[in-house]
Parts: sequence; C-alpha cells; structure tokens
Amino acid sequence: MGKGVIIACDFKSKEDTLKFLNLFNEESLFLKIGMELFYAEGPDIVREIKQRGHKIFLDLKLHDIPNTVEKAMKSLANLDIDMCNVHASGTIDMMKAGLKGLTKEDGSRPLLIAVTQLTSTSQERMEKDLLINKPIEDVVMHYAKNTKEAGLDGVVCSPLEVQKVKEVCGKNFITVTPGIRFKTDDVGDQVRITTPEKANELGSDYIVVGRPITKAENPVEAYKRCVAEFCGE
Ligand code: C5P
Repeated sequence: MGKGVIIACDFKSKEDTLKFLNLFNEESLFLKIGMELFYAEGPDIVREIKQRGHKIFLDLKLHDIPNTVEKAMKSLANLDIDMCNVHASGTIDMMKAGLKGLTKEDGSRPLLIAVTQLTSTSQERMEKDLLINKPIEDVVMHYAKNTKEAGLDGVVCSPLEVQKVKEVCGKNFITVTPGIRFKTDDVGDQVRITTPEKANELGSDYIVVGRPITKAENPVEAYKRCVAEFCGE
C-alpha cells in the first residue's frame, strides 16, 4: 500500500494543466484528474500526462447499471491509469462489475476506490431527498463495508472518518482524503478540514490537495511542504 500526496488538477484546459506541471521540472507526481478536465480534453489529456511519467487518479465517480460500468471501466483500464473510482451507492453488484471491467487478462489493474456519501450531502438533504433516515456516519460506514465486500481497495472519505473506516474495514483498506488545508490557509468552501500533518496522524493513506498547492504563490514549495508534513520527509 502506498502513501502520498495527490494533487487535484482542477484546471479547465490542457494548456492550464501543462503550464502548472511545467513548474515541477522532472519530478514525478500523483495527479487527480476530475470531470471538468476530462470532459473538456478527453482521454488524450490522460495519455499526455502519463507520458510525462506522472501517476493518475481518474476521478470520474462512475454510477450506472453494472453492465455499463463494467464496459466503461474496460475503456479506462486501457488508459493505464493508477487509480479510479465509483459511487458505492451504485450497489455491491455495480462495484463488482467495475472491478471486473478494470482487471486486465493478466490480473493487473489500477486501484479502485468508492465514494461513500459525498461530503456536500448534509444529514437533512440525505433524509429529505434520498429518504435515508440514518445518521450520516452510519451510512458512510455501511457503504465502506459494501465497498470492501465488493473487493475494492478503499474509499474516499474525510480524514476525520479514517480511524472508523479502518476499524470497520481493516487497516489495509485504503483511505483517500480531501479537505486538506495548511494551518495558515484560507479554508475556501471546505468545511471539515485537517492539515497534512493531522491527516497523517489520523492514518490517511493518500491526501488529495487542490487549491493549497495550485493557487499557492509558489506551487512547488507548497507541494514540498505538503509532502514533508504528511510523509515526514
Ligand atoms: O482545492 P481543494 O483542496 O479543496 O480540492 C479538493 C479536491 O478533492 C477537489 O478536486 C474536490 O472535488 C475533491 N473532493 C472533495 N471532497 C470530496 C470528494 C472530492 O473535496 N468528498
């Protein structure tokens, strides 16, 4: 199991993304590409970034019928990505189908993790809109258990949920945690945040960091600070 800092490349275009990456010279990074960039630029952006020697977490949060997710994952597996994800609410069967689609004939595959409840969903909206009348923490842990049962590698969650997820799903079950800010940062629209150091203490395997690095005056320095605080290097 790895450990590291994943930079959220929330840029609108290939041009902006490559301008950012060029700041890092030859350094090999772990980058998260989300829907905005992928839908704007298509799979070529993934190929180009892989060619530069970086690792990619393709954050497309698949959620559809099992057959469609399996076929879509087959296409993503051909892109040679390192990590991707689905919604756990798509059911255990859907997650299993995703895993099957992602696995190549030789058995190799990228890491597959699941989103439990999005952090933008409040207790109130979950009850009113989704008719789920359970404490949100119980729902998150239930989805984490389903994810494990489906054979996936881990979940995206808040650093504050890591300890409970590890209790429920075991210490090797991967936790990928956004919501990271330096002590001195503006929190922006994130609510439940922790520092890289605290995320490490809480047992996160990977932290996903966007604006504290991408909007920093010196992104390379901010990235290095993040790695130093999280990995103790
Ligand atoms: O800029 P910031 O560090 O807040 O970026 C965090 C990244 O993690 C964004 O790409 C955001 O979409 C993603 N994310 C999140 N919370 C989740 C899932 C994903 O912030 N629950």
